[in-house]
Amino acid sequence: MEAFDVIILGAGAAGLMCAAIAGQRGRRVLLLDHADKVGSKILISGGGRCNFTNVDAKPDRYLSQNPHFAKSALSRYTPRDFIDLVEKHGIKYHEKTLGQLFCDGSAREIVAMLMDECAIGGVDVQAGCRITNVSGGEGFRVETDRGSFHAPNLVLATGGPSIPKMGATSFAWQVAKRFGLAITETRPALVPLTVDGELLRFCQQMAGVAVDSVARCGKQSFREASLFTHRGLSGPAILQISSYWREGQAITLDLLPGLDALEFLKDRKRERPKAEAKSVLAEILPARLASALSDRLPLGPMANVQDKLLARMAAQLKSWEIHPSGSEGYAKAEVTLGGIDTNGLSSKTMEAKAVPGLYAIGEAVDVTGWLGGYNFQWAWASGWVAGQSI
Ligand code: FDA
Repeated sequence: MEAFDVIILGAGAAGLMCAAIAGQRGRRVLLLDHADKVGSKILISGGGRCNFTNVDAKPDRYLSQNPHFAKSALSRYTPRDFIDLVEKHGIKYHEKTLGQLFCDGSAREIVAMLMDECAIGGVDVQAGCRITNVSGGEGFRVETDRGSFHAPNLVLATGGPSIPKMGATSFAWQVAKRFGLAITETRPALVPLTVDGELLRFCQQMAGVAVDSVARCGKQSFREASLFTHRGLSGPAILQISSYWREGQAITLDLLPGLDALEFLKDRKRERPKAEAKSVLAEILPARLASALSDRLPLGPMANVQDKLLARMAAQLKSWEIHPSGSEGYAKAEVTLGGIDTNGLSSKTMEAKAVPGLYAIGEAVDVTGWLGGYNFQWAWASGWVAGQSI
């Protein structure tokens, strides 16, 4: 049986970072992944350009049962630290919007960078390796289709079950449970929402139309684009609010952020009494949406539309209450909300309090970021602190 100082399960964002750091600190590191390629979610992220961090990655942009847990790791390994690494490797990048940093070229550069860092640390990376059993005792023993391995430290870095088609599993949770760690309530997040009935027909009719919006659920709101789809609603504003939404709750959409809709409509009735409602709405909304909404108003010029109808239209545009029937689930979710309960982990090292030598990092843990580079920053930061501790 081959012996290492640490075995890391999962060569994704967090596992690669942890392996590189531990290796460069002189640890003998084995990094195992069942997929043929390492970092597969990095490769498809950000439309192939990887939104690798967010310059505003503050703890309040993360959801967790313990909102304080992420503070330590996020403050010890910051977006600036990752940007320094990216710059050291000569990778060109740009800020797209809202602090989101993307590669100019390809996400492949980020994976190559992490693999180079692993090579510097002498990490033994084994992709396409099936893990058949994990057991404790004197250290940890990992059985695979390539033989058995042993180490005093084991890192769970196999992420969450979102996008199972890519080989995502809940393996980390299963192993964590076996070692007595608790798992919080889990559900798909950053996920498109579905609707039914008349609203579904409307969404289908509008499929492909994107509109600037504020999506609200409870006290949380996001101003970004919403997108109508064949199953309901998507787009960044909807993905963001989906992490806060629970079955049975309503979300509200303001389709005219920053505009007093009633004032605008009354003003146009005064100024352009002969204009059709459709063309007035098209001044402030995408043409297809304007046309569909104006079908709900009486035919003819603005002068014929009663003020109470304008008020109803304005109210709907500013505060459209939507009752999603569900979400598109793990098949379409960018991340998993919930995971290994942070109560059982040290926030400084990510080591299990009750199981010395067992660590959990990345998406497998109950820390979930907003859309926009936050989830990778958590993966880098949690991987880095664990790598420093092992
Ligand atoms: P990650 O999923 O990266 O890695 C887990 C690894 O474990 C994988 O390599 C997997 O093959 C392996 N594994 C799983 N089960 C195993 C098993 N049983 N045995 C062995 N190996 C196993 N975030 C962001 O910040 N910016 C972005 O642009 C995007 N974009 C994006 C697009 C899409 C389509 C998705 C699905 C997700 C994103 N994300 C994102 C989220 C981001 O990809 C995610 O949060 C991180 O990859 C999580 O890093 P981890 O290392 O924890 O898991």
